[in-house]
Amino acid sequence: MNFSEDFMNELRYKNPVEEVISSYVVLKKAGSTYKGLCPFHNERTPSFTVYPNTNSFYCFGCQNGGDVVTFIKNIENLDYVEAVRFLADRAGMAMPESGYDDSVEKLRRTVLAINRETAKFYFECLIQKEDGGIGLKYFSGRKLSAETIKKFGLGYAPDSFDKLKNHLRSKGFSESDMILANVCSKSQKTGRAYDRFRKKVMFPIFDLRGNVIAFGGRKFPEDEGAKYINSSDTPVFKKSKNLYGLNLAKNSGEKTVILTEGYMDTIALHQAGFNNAVGALGTSFTADQANLLSRYFDEIVVTMDIDEAGQKATKRAIEILKTTGIKIRILQVEGGKDPDEYIKEFGANRFRMLLEGAKNDIEFKLLGAKNKFDIETDDGKLNYLNASIEVLASVNDEIARNLYASRVSGETGVEKSVILNRVQRMRKSNEKKALKKELTEFTRPKYSPNDVNPDAKKYRRAAYAEENILAVLMQYPQYAKYVFEKLSGDDFLTSFNKDLYLKLQEILVAGKEFEISYLSESYDSKQLGRVMEINSKFSFSNDIEQVIDDCIKVIFDEKDKLGIISPSNMNDDDFLNALNKQAKDKKGKH
Ligand code: CTP
Ligand code: MN
Repeated sequence: MNFSEDFMNELRYKNPVEEVISSYVVLKKAGSTYKGLCPFHNERTPSFTVYPNTNSFYCFGCQNGGDVVTFIKNIENLDYVEAVRFLADRAGMAMPESGYDDSVEKLRRTVLAINRETAKFYFECLIQKEDGGIGLKYFSGRKLSAETIKKFGLGYAPDSFDKLKNHLRSKGFSESDMILANVCSKSQKTGRAYDRFRKKVMFPIFDLRGNVIAFGGRKFPEDEGAKYINSSDTPVFKKSKNLYGLNLAKNSGEKTVILTEGYMDTIALHQAGFNNAVGALGTSFTADQANLLSRYFDEIVVTMDIDEAGQKATKRAIEILKTTGIKIRILQVEGGKDPDEYIKEFGANRFRMLLEGAKNDIEFKLLGAKNKFDIETDDGKLNYLNASIEVLASVNDEIARNLYASRVSGETGVEKSVILNRVQRMRKSNEKKALKKELTEFTRPKYSPNDVNPDAKKYRRAAYAEENILAVLMQYPQYAKYVFEKLSGDDFLTSFNKDLYLKLQEILVAGKEFEISYLSESYDSKQLGRVMEINSKFSFSNDIEQVIDDCIKVIFDEKDKLGIISPSNMNDDDFLNALNKQAKDKKGKH
């Protein structure tokens, strides 16, 4: 146990779950609970639920759940102790002086300190014209001003295997921590650390609080190898959850965000006065990034390359973005250029005009369909019509549907009413399909394939019985003794249920009643969500002892079928047989 119970009780009391969450999610009261759009997955109808009575939250869509600490952990990207500290600060409470394990927090602090020192070092190397000033020459060749370089904290990593390492060592950091921060690599031969970024111009990546969490390094044009190398995921960095420049863009005061593909595009846009640009940090845009952006902006302009890969990436990004409800527009820069190149050649004003003319997602898709076919021929026209009917059918706004149907009608010469008729039919059939899908998802037993407890798939019946027992323990602690006398943790067939059983044993034997918060230190939000699901999916009428007995019987039956006998229930013969079998198995292995 990390923190004292008194401390945690006070922390929870002073940080009511609905109050804390409502500063991140718009919550609406629904009876004794609150509902809102889940911040952890994309959705348009609220399935994220907050339960003030039990100090917890649960999302029926993505099955994440937990208490207020879990929520802060996830949304602020913190570890358990850091999340507790966050909430203590929020409530003006002092952290206990000792008695808790803050090793993860310390480790993350060390990594952040190394990153900060490293960024400073690279910046100094750039400014002090290390290696003949090639870094600074490169950036000025790309027309970056001194102000921009400072604003983004750009730097230069010297052409050396140990300059950074020696510098960090002089500041008291250990080689293993440098490796952990991923600013150094570990030599296979000697096991020692050496500088990971050499002869590169450097782009530090910041989080929303201004910490340096990672680096991207770009090679010089004359050098071999990948154009960019980036930090891998570290204790403080997850690529899929961050966006380059969001720390600046979120303060731009703009309602619109410009999403670019790269570091240089983001920087060039900022320098040209577009303070609302962010970079996607590599190739594929993720749902986490979409969610993050929709928290700060109402509209997004996606600027991707015009090539085939870029088109594909754009379509994917649209699908991901669509579920967040953010308004989407797509800007295709002419001439196969990226925004950086475009601005350099034509200036900021022309880019602003492009921006204003950026197409919405419907126009983008229609145009994509149109470019695919030769609509001068009847065949091409038909193909285009079919493709556009599909696009129009996905548009929920009636006026927009009408507007674009007119356009397609004009382009093809087919009457608008005919087009709209087909669109309507397709919408009906889509609706039916969606309904059917929803229905099967709703009626399918929820405990089926599940990454939290993969064993449940193998031992369906046993898992179901185990979960009944677990739910009884959570709801009726007075039966704990009755259960514990008959069933040991080792009798469980599935590993997650077993672990939960052992944890519940600890809680209940200590004379406490189950609360989700007791588990929030050891389980993540997926596991806690699973616990809440188990707890809520079973309700019991009067004869609880009978339920317990039946379930225990099922568990033992299933074990028998598998030839597993728990030691506590073995007679002498069974015990000898099991021993012999073990000995044989062992022999077989050698
Ligand atoms: N990228 C990467 N690793 C690579 C290539 C690209 O991580 N080997 C990422 C970088 O974040 C890069 C983005 O993908 O900024 C887009 O790649 P690309 O268009 O090739 O580079 P630019 O950003 O245009 O870089 P530059 O202008 O410096 O050539
Ligand atoms: Mn570029």
